[in-house]
Amino acid sequence: MKSSQSSETRKKNNKAVDLFIEKPVYGGYGLARKEGKVFLVRYTVPGELIKAIPIREKKDHTEALPLEIKIPSEARREPVCPFYGKCGGCHYQHIEYDHQVRIKKVILEESLTRIGKIKNLPEVHTLMSPEEFGYRIRVQFKGDGDRVGFFRWGEREVIGVEYCPVSHPEINTLIPALRRVSAEAGMPCEFHVSYSPSEDKFLIIIVTPTELDKEILESFRDFLPERVVGIGNYLRVGQSLTMRKWTGREYLLYEVKGKRFRVSAGSFFQVNWSLWESFVDTVLWDINYRKAIELYGGVGFFTLFLAEKGNFIEASDSNPSAVNDAQYNAKINGGENLLFIKNSAYRHLKMRGGEVIDLLVLDPPRSGLSQKERDLILKNRPERILYISCNPATLARDLGHLTAGGYSIKRTVLVDNFPQTYHIESVTLLEIQE
Ligand SMILES: C[S@@+](CC[C@H](N)C(=O)[O-])C[C@H]1O[C@@H](n2cnc3c(N)ncnc32)[C@H](O)[C@@H]1O
Repeated sequence: MKSSQSSETRKKNNKAVDLFIEKPVYGGYGLARKEGKVFLVRYTVPGELIKAIPIREKKDHTEALPLEIKIPSEARREPVCPFYGKCGGCHYQHIEYDHQVRIKKVILEESLTRIGKIKNLPEVHTLMSPEEFGYRIRVQFKGDGDRVGFFRWGEREVIGVEYCPVSHPEINTLIPALRRVSAEAGMPCEFHVSYSPSEDKFLIIIVTPTELDKEILESFRDFLPERVVGIGNYLRVGQSLTMRKWTGREYLLYEVKGKRFRVSAGSFFQVNWSLWESFVDTVLWDINYRKAIELYGGVGFFTLFLAEKGNFIEASDSNPSAVNDAQYNAKINGGENLLFIKNSAYRHLKMRGGEVIDLLVLDPPRSGLSQKERDLILKNRPERILYISCNPATLARDLGHLTAGGYSIKRTVLVDNFPQTYHIESVTLLEIQE
């Protein structure tokens, strides 16, 4: 941690300040105020007194790094990872795990009341991750020459790592081989590694600026274990990835609570294997319906279980790869009362406008719902809405609109899908008020 602080510190000749960390802020920061200025400081714990060095001036705050922890919190601990503080992948390793979850709860409750202006918010429940390390079954490494690792926090410099403690231990065994592949590729790469603990197999997507020859892609197999059953070369344009070529199998199989899932390289799957079962149970809790619609359904991770709680569920996703997998998954698991269609959330809502729906399930990406989607939901007025979110800011905005439009929040559960990071996943149930 020290070296990253000093390298950023050297860039500026700013004066150190003593600060008291008042409260946590989304993004992995602790907030402090001094002489009318707001400071956001990484690697701190609320309640600590620190000496900090400003590193960046922003419009409404100053970003700072701690130089010295003068009075540490009782929740502070030694991070387990030697790369912590250099690598930008983790933000809370210096905090005891139960306290990380308490901090996320404070942030989630504050987001809902401050951004969402939600009154009478029921107490947020929490579901901790059974494993605080080794939980990720999908990891994106950056490759630069023979360095493989992650970007430094907020920057594009690749910090090489020997292993990553939040990744599944089997994924870590591939790092030496990925270093060889990165060096052979001879250009900056991204490696998206997926691992199925259910079948002990991997897929690897290699994202490169220039297309790799088929023979080169094939030759990477020589460095990788046989358990890597498929390798693809992809192009990145903005946030979206396009496959250029593939060698081997294009999917992995996963088993969750007795159901089997085929997940192709281009489809989303929940990353924390240790939470799969309790996450599903949290979503299903007290759910029953006659007709449900599920938007952003992916490969049917929740749909296959939700189908057992009601008469009929129609799920959709805009990604054709996910919908193909979902349809296959429904077939192999014997679901009769569910239908998967390829559709955008907006078009699906429009298509079912005016129909009586007693449950609407939503699991959007970080951007949350669009205004048009929110408007259609308020027009269609499903009796209950189950909103699964991975971003408290967009969740708060959306719940603000839905509660102003006549819904009330019945329960919110923080599901700690991403220990050691600032990311906050949650499940909220809303009910229409008569
Ligand atoms: C957070 S994932 C959730 C998937 C699924 N519920 C699960 O748990 O596996 C979000 C999903 O939304 C889909 N998606 C993104 N934008 C969409 C849109 N505008 N309309 C419909 N689906 C969308 C993605 O393809 C992805 O499968």
